[in-house]
Amino acid sequence: MSEVLNFLIHRHSYPKLMGPAPSHEQLDAMFSAAIAAPDHGQLQPYRFRVFDIDHLSELGEHFENALRAESGHEQKALDKARNLPTRAPMVIVAICHQTPDHPKAPAQEQLITAALATFQVINAAEALGFGAYWRTGDLAYKASLAKQLKLKENESIIGFIYVGTPDGEPKSSKKSLTSADIWRLG
Ligand SMILES: Cc1cc2nc3c(=O)[nH]c(=O)nc-3n(C[C@H](O)[C@H](O)[C@H](O)COP(=O)(O)O)c2cc1C
Repeated sequence: MSEVLNFLIHRHSYPKLMGPAPSHEQLDAMFSAAIAAPDHGQLQPYRFRVFDIDHLSELGEHFENALRAESGHEQKALDKARNLPTRAPMVIVAICHQTPDHPKAPAQEQLITAALATFQVINAAEALGFGAYWRTGDLAYKASLAKQLKLKENESIIGFIYVGTPDGEPKSSKKSLTSADIWRLG
C-alpha cells in the first residue's frame, strides 16, 4: 500500500494536544494545501483565522463575550467558554466566505469547498506530524460570536480546528467498512 493511501486510511482526530504548534512556515504549507481543494468558480470561499498560543486568551474572551451578549448564562458556563481554546496550543477558526448568487457555484457548493479546504488544512497538519481536532459546538453558530470576530454578513464559522502535537493516542474509530453500505457496484 502506498504511503499516501496508508495515511488517508489511518487518519484520526486527536482530542488531546500539546505544544509545539505549527510554525509560520508550516502554516503556509497547510494553507497551500487548502487552496488545492476543489473549488467551482475558483472563488476560494474560505478564510482562516489563526489563534496561536499568544492569542488563545483573546479567542477565549471572544467565546465568553459571545455568551455574555445573551442573557441567562451562569458564571460557570462563562468560565468554561473562556477556557475552551486552551485545549490546544493553536486554534484555527475556519470560516466560509460566500459569494451570494454566483451564477455557477451555488451557496451549497461554496460551503462544500470551504469544508474541503478545512480538511486539507487538517490533513496537511497531520502530514507535518501534528494532530488536529475539528470542533464546532453551539458557539460556532452564535451570531454574537460572529459579531465578536467581526465576520462579514456573507461569512460563517464552520469549525474551530484545534491543532498541536498529539498528547496520547488518537480517538479510536468505531467506523468500519463492513458496518455500513458505503459502496456497491451498479
Ligand atoms: C463540521 C464538523 C463539526 C464537528 N464538531 C464537533 C464537536 O463540536 N465536538 C466533537 O467532539 N466532535 C466534532 N466533530 C467530529 C470530530 O472532529 C471527529 O471527526 C470525530 O470525533 C471522529 O473522529 P475521527 O475524525 O478520528 O474519525 C465535528 C466534525 C465536523 C466535520
